[in-house]
Amino acid sequence: MTSNNQDIIKALQWRYAVKQFDASKKLTEEQLKRLMEGLQLTPTSMGLQLMKFIVISNPELKAKITPIAFNQPQVEQCSHLFVLCRKHTVTEKDISSFVDRTASTRNIETDSPTMVGFEKMLSSSLNLPDPQQKAWMENQVYIALGNFLTLCAAEAIDACPMEGFDRPKLDRLLELEQDGLNAVVMCPVGFRSSEDKYSEVKKVRRPLHNLVEER
Ligand SMILES: Cc1cc2nc3c(=O)[nH]c(=O)nc-3n(C[C@H](O)[C@H](O)[C@H](O)COP(=O)(O)O)c2cc1C
Repeated sequence: MTSNNQDIIKALQWRYAVKQFDASKKLTEEQLKRLMEGLQLTPTSMGLQLMKFIVISNPELKAKITPIAFNQPQVEQCSHLFVLCRKHTVTEKDISSFVDRTASTRNIETDSPTMVGFEKMLSSSLNLPDPQQKAWMENQVYIALGNFLTLCAAEAIDACPMEGFDRPKLDRLLELEQDGLNAVVMCPVGFRSSEDKYSEVKKVRRPLHNLVEER
């Protein structure tokens, strides 16, 4: 493993929230796979991955989403539209299948004291009031978004994190509720248009001394 810290900072300076994509430029299958793998590798609290990512390339479907996203043009222009969703609620099945996956991946008996204790710990930690449980899952979707944006930048793929859409309407269009999901945030990805003037504007950021306090 080599240290490319400087390159990551350069990539983060290069990236910006793209307002206009070049609709003629598409991600390769390999680029798409790498972005998916990045999402798979995102850390989640206790490893539960109570989320799902929908990747949309179908132009008709993207066109239907555009008005739900207040006509933001990136939805239709992008190569692929990622919709980052959380689970609607945490079920016992979510916990038991995660425990089973952990046991089989790590060659541990599911009914061993370690795994039984692990499952009990998970169940009691997740025994939260519904709004708290949803907020907790949602926070982790945002961690996935952050990772995803950094990965896109490192791969020289453009993106625009997007909260500007009507969540219930998108849930209905994509029939997410029936899969026990709710949309949290979207992220169109692709390649910036040479006409996107936002690629030229300077980043507005608080100065480090004001943003970070060393003690
Ligand atoms: C969670 C989140 C939601 C955002 N929603 C939108 C959006 O709906 N539409 C949009 O054009 N930009 C959106 N942005 C982009 C921000 O406005 C942008 O990241 C911020 O102004 C910093 O600029 P930069 O990302 O270009 O450096 C969103 C950003 C984040 C992190």
